[in-house]
Amino acid sequence: MMNTETKIRDENDRVIIFDTTLRDGEQCPGATMTFDEKLEVAELLDEMGVDVIEAGFPIASQGDFESVKEIARRSKNAVICGLARAQPADIDRCAEAIKPAGRGRIHTFIGTSPLHRKYQMDIDEAECLSRVTASVGRARSLTDNVEWSAMDATRTESDFLCRCVEAAIAAGATTVNIPDTVGYAYHDEFGDLIRMLLERVPGADEIVFSTHCHNDLGLAVANSLSGVSAGARQVECAINGLGERAGNAALEEIVMAIQTRSDIMPYWTGVDTTHLTRASKLVSRVTAFPVQYNKAIVGRNAFAHESGIHQDGVLKHAGTFEIMTPESVGLKESSLVMGKHSGRHAFREKLKELGYELGDNAFEDAFVRFKGLADVKKHVYDEDIEALVDQEIASAQDRIRVTSLTVIAGTGGPQKATITLQIDGKQHMYESVGDGPVDATFQAIRALVPHEARLALYQVSAVTEGTDAQAEVMVRLEADGQIATGRGSDTDTMVASARAYVSALNKLLARGARRKPETMLAS
Ligand code: KIV
Ligand code: ZN
Repeated sequence: MMNTETKIRDENDRVIIFDTTLRDGEQCPGATMTFDEKLEVAELLDEMGVDVIEAGFPIASQGDFESVKEIARRSKNAVICGLARAQPADIDRCAEAIKPAGRGRIHTFIGTSPLHRKYQMDIDEAECLSRVTASVGRARSLTDNVEWSAMDATRTESDFLCRCVEAAIAAGATTVNIPDTVGYAYHDEFGDLIRMLLERVPGADEIVFSTHCHNDLGLAVANSLSGVSAGARQVECAINGLGERAGNAALEEIVMAIQTRSDIMPYWTGVDTTHLTRASKLVSRVTAFPVQYNKAIVGRNAFAHESGIHQDGVLKHAGTFEIMTPESVGLKESSLVMGKHSGRHAFREKLKELGYELGDNAFEDAFVRFKGLADVKKHVYDEDIEALVDQEIASAQDRIRVTSLTVIAGTGGPQKATITLQIDGKQHMYESVGDGPVDATFQAIRALVPHEARLALYQVSAVTEGTDAQAEVMVRLEADGQIATGRGSDTDTMVASARAYVSALNKLLARGARRKPETMLAS
């Protein structure tokens, strides 16, 4: 049943939303974001009312350090947090990165479980405890907002975990995070763990307990909510559930579960839920990680009603099959239908409606592509425009662009592709045969930009329905331990494929692939 009751909000019932999209999320294979993309995500998180943004791991690289520092400088409301291992150099670097923030936090962690103590660090319990005290103490000497995490807490002996938490509190931790690092816990078990710590550890009522649940068994959200019911008042989560392996608890699911079921979860968050759809789309675009169609809250089908019975019910009363309104998560009924007669003004309005703000040049490029699309496609849906603009934004800084592509395909063979690429402003053409049109196209790109990268994923989907739908292609390349994912869209699947491949290649180059494009060019 939909809960429409309005309650007076008690600060003790507030759940602090700690977003780790830019740290745990960004560190998962293939999800790397550029400096500008991280700033864009952070700006939206800040605007939507996320309480704490974990902006990165400053010691990990100069790039991470710079982005944490810039996010700290720009943030208006959120606490900006950086991650640090239990080592002085990490903690000092983190303190420097968060310095420009109005409110900054150092988040330091150590593995506490027997497996981590023995195999990761080869230390005994006493040494682990002394590192907890030293790391939290050092962080506390640099800032008064310190979070301490017991990595692999859910597989740590209860007595030892209590001693670690007690040591962290005594050394000055203001938040204690209990990660289910490997997504092993069951929901009751996780709630009991938080309850046990609150009952047994001296000083536990003085600090905030936090959850950080991974999704290896698909229980991350359930476990986090169980932690909240048991007394945790911070949840660590990520947009679209991004994170190591199967990911973290999905922010949108946590926030909407708390809001929708306030009858049994009498808590609240400061997140403006009408930003959730936009945030999901942004993170999907910058990481090139697609959102599963039936993903809760933000999946394409989350509010779609297909069967006759459901459609009939929803038309009579939305509450029959909807427990939340689409508007509450920022899904808007489209007010402008676009087609080949739509002009610049309508296109600009549509972009505004979809939440895009483009500079003049980017707008003109997007408009030209929109007109091209409207010429070949009768109905241009919002999803078409989003795919088109996302690609325009993603390729704005690219050194390599697809200028043209002609493909000969069919049963006769051999399949052939002739491609022209603009590389650092100059046009280069190559013709290649291949085992099918996609292979021929990719061979031609490889001939023009020789590289070692391995094609790890090639995936095609349709942006909308119908035979004139745009194809959206995802390509993942792997080189030197780096993974880059590119997306491309077009009504021509081969053009979308070439764009996706080139987009992934550009990302690898931007990350400093060993050879520069000039030296990679075929002579
Ligand atoms: O999963 C985990 O344990 C972590 C810690 C660094 C908090 O990400
Ligand atoms: Zn994690």
